[in-house]
Amino acid sequence: MQIAIDGPSGAGKSSVAKVVAAKMGLVYVDTGALYRTVGYYVREAGVAREDAAGIVACLPHIEIEVRYENGAQHVYLNGEDLGDRIREPEISMYASAVSAVPDVRGFLLDTQRNIAAKNSVIMDGRDIGTVILPNAEVKIFLTASDEARARRRTSELQAKGLDVKFEDVLREMRERDHNDSHREIAPAIAAKDAVLLDNSNMTVEETANAVIALARKTLEA
Ligand code: DC
Repeated sequence: MQIAIDGPSGAGKSSVAKVVAAKMGLVYVDTGALYRTVGYYVREAGVAREDAAGIVACLPHIEIEVRYENGAQHVYLNGEDLGDRIREPEISMYASAVSAVPDVRGFLLDTQRNIAAKNSVIMDGRDIGTVILPNAEVKIFLTASDEARARRRTSELQAKGLDVKFEDVLREMRERDHNDSHREIAPAIAAKDAVLLDNSNMTVEETANAVIALARKTLEA
């Protein structure tokens, strides 16, 4: 079983996917964490976001391993679990920048496909339905209004103890979404066979139930 959830940042992909994974016994794969991990390394290496050649030169020094511990995904960078350090707003911008570099996408491809080959998964990202799992049984493109998404992202970051303002989160979110959906390689767009779901006025639970209903319908068909 493969469920692909794509969509812009703050649409609730990870919250929804976690609930669906728990209810359906699937492994939840957060692919954004992989790009964030590469972005983290690049920032630590002092390479500028715009420096595509510098980003590519970092790749031979990066070893990424994904482990599942007590049902939760942990991404190890050269043997170290970075935890919430990859969630900082600056790393979001680095993740978006490195994700537009074709070599980075190629570098992370096998890691993502290998997990899906070994497990029944619900995977979220930007290109899951279009590139990573083109044969997924269920494909969802999850969206919400800019304001709803920025509000959720702001609360999420504040709950983690980060001192962020709604206006800054909204501005950076729009910049990142523009980059992610307009890049040449694997842009964040809905697959032709994806179901579009706008959850601006839905709770996580309601959205998860809608995804589960779609999955059951597909399985029964
Ligand atoms: O889902 P996220 O916000 O953690 O993702 C961080 C960045 O990584 C996002 O701005 C674009 C990139 N990304 C991608 O290009 N493809 C994916 N499948 C997942 C994330």
